[in-house]
Order: sequence, then structure tokens, then C-alpha cells
Amino acid sequence: MKILICFGTRPEAIKMAPICLELVKQNIPFKLCVTAQHREMLDQVLNFFGLLPDYDLNIMKPNQSLNMLSSRILSKMDGIFETEPFDIVLVHGDTTTSSLVALSAFHRNIKVAHVEAGLRTYDKQSPFPEELNRQLTGRISDYHFTPTIKAKENLLSEKINESEIIVTGNTVIDALLVAIQKIDEGYTNATIESLKNKIDLNKKLILVTGHRRESFGQGFENLCKALLELVREEDVQIVYPVHLNPNVKNVVYEKLSNIENILLIEPLDYPSFIWLMSKATVIISDSGGIQEEAPSLNIPVLVTRNTTERDEGIKAKCSFLVGTNPKKIVEKAKEVLDSDFVMKVNNPYGNGNAAKRIVEFLRDFKYSKC
Ligand code: UD1
Ligand code: UDP
Repeated sequence: MKILICFGTRPEAIKMAPICLELVKQNIPFKLCVTAQHREMLDQVLNFFGLLPDYDLNIMKPNQSLNMLSSRILSKMDGIFETEPFDIVLVHGDTTTSSLVALSAFHRNIKVAHVEAGLRTYDKQSPFPEELNRQLTGRISDYHFTPTIKAKENLLSEKINESEIIVTGNTVIDALLVAIQKIDEGYTNATIESLKNKIDLNKKLILVTGHRRESFGQGFENLCKALLELVREEDVQIVYPVHLNPNVKNVVYEKLSNIENILLIEPLDYPSFIWLMSKATVIISDSGGIQEEAPSLNIPVLVTRNTTERDEGIKAKCSFLVGTNPKKIVEKAKEVLDSDFVMKVNNPYGNGNAAKRIVEFLRDFKYSKC
């Protein structure tokens, strides 16, 4: 069976890396294709996990439209399928890379397996365009690796065959455990060392990230307003690795540059980010992956979105939906900063065995071509 693993952005790379490493460990051959929908943010993850792509579509262009991105993925994938036959393609999550690579494989009659399947808000505008991307990928896929039971239930309610759904946990936890173990064993790099000099561990650290398209404009302006209010507290400092998307970067640097106790930095390489997360008192973020990682580090997350497909964290009271209303962000952040937050349950998103379960499925998979 010829396996192709394909991804394009930072979070996909982090979440697919454990599967690649497990396939290598079990001597199961596969090819790796990156669309490079992200470039710098992707490459640092490939470096950390020691992954060398067989195909690199090098698709990123500054601020390109979703349609341009989509059409380039479709046409470049055809080139790969013409040079090499594959039986199954693994895609991840809800990016444009995931749905367009899935579609390109379907057009070639190649089976598709979807990692992190079944997440839903059922609101096409939130998150945009990710909700539609994952629904499309779900319709196209032949096999669905869901991180949680809830995700499986979503797929069952959409009449996906139960025999095609495998609950695995989220591979983000597998990746996190690799990074934490390395850090515990003394891993460091120049970025971590420089952060140690820049942050004051006697202050409460608010770590901020954000990139959602539905928050471009007013949403990000509101977030900046809330951060300016929060940093007025004497014992608080904010560290904000700013996403490279110009629609994020421009507004954040305009509103928050040169403010005392706000440190704006480039996106961090993955181990540096995990190191910094472990020092945070609270995280303010619209990230999917961070909602999943934070419970393992006992850090609460204020989710700057109106909806989340990650209800498990909300139910476990380790993440809190605050939207982008500055008043709500400030109120909840102050409440959490003043509390002694302790996770009361295990991380609902996984225990570090997801990649093993997925590779077990692939190993035992009796493939019959349609
Ligand atoms: C993308 C995904 C989103 C995912 C997020 C993770 C889509 C439509 N969006 O959003 O689902 O949650 O990644 O971060 O699939 N850029 C760089 N260098 C990089 C990466 C991005 O300069 O390494 C800049 C470029 O100008 C690029 C822009 O950011 O055009 C937007 O990148 P894009 O992948 O389209 O969207 P994201 O907002 O990153
Ligand atoms: N992350 C990182 N560097 C950063 C910010 C985040 O390596 O500066 C990691 C984080 O640990 C998580 C993933 O990137 O695993 C989340 O990516 P993002 O928020 O861009 O995408 P999402 O998860 O929302 O799709």
C-alpha cells in the first residue's frame, strides 16, 4: 500500500509529525508532501521533528486569496499524482490544504483518511473558512480519525458509517509530550535563552496568539484594546508572538508597539512556544491547537471566538469562550489571574497514543482499490 501524507501549515505539521515518526519507527514506507501553505512557520516544525518532505509544492505567497491558494494546490497535486501512484492520502483538520488535497485525491480515485475528523460548530462563518473545509473533507474522506467521542458522534449524525470512524485522541498531545520530554531533558535553543532574559518570572504572564479570519479588523482592534487595559495591572506582563498574516501583524504592531510590559515577538518555533506556554498564568488565544495543549500544562485559555468546536475544554472548565468584546476579555482575564487555577480532569483531547492508533489502523488496513 502506498501512503502519502500531506499538510501545509504549522498546526498540521505539528499534528502530523507524530504519525510520520511512528511510521518510520514501524518501518512502514510513506511519502511526505508539504504544500507549504505556510513557509517559515512550517519549516521550523519540520526541522524540530527532523522531517524531510519528498515533495514541496512551495505554494505560499504573501497574502494570497483563498481562491488563488486553492487553485494552485489542486493543480500542483495533479503533478504529484501523475508521477507516482498512491493508494491512500492522509490529510489533517480544516485548512485549505486539507480540503483541496482531499478533493484532488478524490478526483484521482485515491482513498482519503482524515486526521482530526469530526470537529464541528455547524456555523459556516465561524471559524471561516475552516468549518466548511472540515465538512468538505469529511464528506470526501473514506476513513475518519476522530480525536474525541463527541467528534465521532458528529460524524454519526451526518450518516458516516461507524466502521469508517476510529477514535484515536488528538496527535497534538503526542507532539506535546515529545517536546516536553526534550525540554525536561535539557533541550534549549537561542530563542528560549533570549526569552529567559526578557520575561520577568515574578510577574503573571499572559500569553497571547491570534489569527482567525473572522476577527480581522474590529476583532483584533478589540483584542488590542483589552490587552492595553490588562497591562495596566502592575504585576502583569504580556508576551504576544504575532502571526505572520499581514491582516493580523499590521494592526497588532500599530496598536501595541512600544508599550511597557507588552512584548511583541515573531511567531516562536514550536519547542520555544511550548517552553513559554509552561510559564504562562493564562493564555488568550483563538487557536484550536492551543485549546488542546493547554490542559496538559494546567494553563487556562480564554478563547477569543464566538464559537468553538472544542467543547470538551469548555465543559472541563479549562477554556472559556470570551469572544472579542474587550470588556468580557478583561473581566474574565482578571478573574482567572486572581484565581489559583487547577485542572480538575485529565486532558480531554488525548493521552499521547493517537499516532500509534492511526498507524495500527494503516498497518492492518486491507486495502482494495475501487
Ligand atoms: C492558516 C489556515 C488556518 C489555520 C492557520 C494556522 C486556511 C484558510 N487557514 O491561516 O485554518 O488555523 O493557518 O496558523 O487554511 N504567512 C507568512 N509566512 C508563513 C505563514 C503565513 O508570511 O509561514 C503570511 C502570508 O502572507 C500568507 C498569510 O500569512 O499569505 C496567510 O496565510 P494562510 O495560510 O492563507 O492563512 P493563515 O491565516 O495562516
Ligand atoms: N505555536 C507555535 N508557535 C507560536 C504559536 C503557536 O509553535 O508562536 C504552535 C502551538 O503550540 C500549536 C499550534 O502552533 O501547536 C497552533 O497553531 P495555530 O494557532 O496557528 O493554528 P490552529 O491550531 O488554530 O489551527
